[in-house]
Amino acid sequence: MKLRVSAPSNIALIKYMGKTDTQANRPANRSLSWTLGALRTTVEIEADANLTMDVWEPLDGMGPRLELSEKGKQKFLKHVERVRQVTGVKGFFHIRSANNFPSDCGIASSASSFAALTMAVIQISEKLDAKYRAPSLSEQAALSRQGSGSSCRSFFAPWSLWDQEGARGLELPVAKLIHQVVVLNAAKKEVSSSEAHQRCTTSLLFQGRVVRAEQRLESLIKAFREGSWRMAMEITWAEFWDMHALFETSQPAFGYFHPDSFRVLAKVRDFWQAHEDGPLATMDAGANVHLLWRVDQKVAAEQFGNQLAEFARVLMTDEQENLREMPVKERGL
Ligand code: PMV
Repeated sequence: MKLRVSAPSNIALIKYMGKTDTQANRPANRSLSWTLGALRTTVEIEADANLTMDVWEPLDGMGPRLELSEKGKQKFLKHVERVRQVTGVKGFFHIRSANNFPSDCGIASSASSFAALTMAVIQISEKLDAKYRAPSLSEQAALSRQGSGSSCRSFFAPWSLWDQEGARGLELPVAKLIHQVVVLNAAKKEVSSSEAHQRCTTSLLFQGRVVRAEQRLESLIKAFREGSWRMAMEITWAEFWDMHALFETSQPAFGYFHPDSFRVLAKVRDFWQAHEDGPLATMDAGANVHLLWRVDQKVAAEQFGNQLAEFARVLMTDEQENLREMPVKERGL
């Protein structure tokens, strides 16, 4: 018995940072994300009666070969056990996974990986046990959240809201966007997001953080409902800086910026100044800069992406969810 499932990644505009329950991944504040339908993890799961434990290996033929650290593998396999406990199915699995986006470029893949893994164990349990019924999407998301918090938002699209009750889809007037991620690898080793969630609470700026995030969430939803793109940009801009300021003022301080992250952000600011319009910009716990453009800005998005491709890799997903890498020019300009 073998099956394959895939799940998308997501990028938060209002960030999940800080937990009220570290074990169960309960968030300090609500978060809102855009689902990255074209950036996906595929998981193949195979039941094998000869196995005495679960085994993970990279899935071939689905894009770049994935490498997981020992810690990453253990976290992944622990989640298999967690979901199996819930479905009650017996036996062990070969788990193979791959991302369709470059795995060496620091795009957070834990959201898509854990969402796909949760779905895979649930779906194979349905096949192996005729009496087992898959739970609702919200329940699947809640289970996935225990493996990786932000993965619970990947069960809904295009917008996903995660609050104390769990994750769910949110209807907003903007249902299609163009996404670009400017890939900038930080030279120094990243602090894991689990550690970031803990360390950020040592920052003096953490006082008031939950209130600020909640206020921004309300204002951002209002901005989208009222069609105020500039307001949406100002909120998402302040929000990612807030999160990165927490990191840089933690004890000990840490950070994810690459010098070119500043360069890209400055270009975004200049673009807005010159055109009185532009993309929403945000950054995760990494050096990459994510840009979201309205569909009517497609020409500008292409031109801007081409400029950025002069010094960085740019992956672009259009409104039809076609993913491509923008042509790489001579670097180092
Ligand atoms: O899901 P985790 O524990 O890897 O947390 C990731 C949190 C951020 O990506 C930094 C922000 C977010 O809301 O996705």
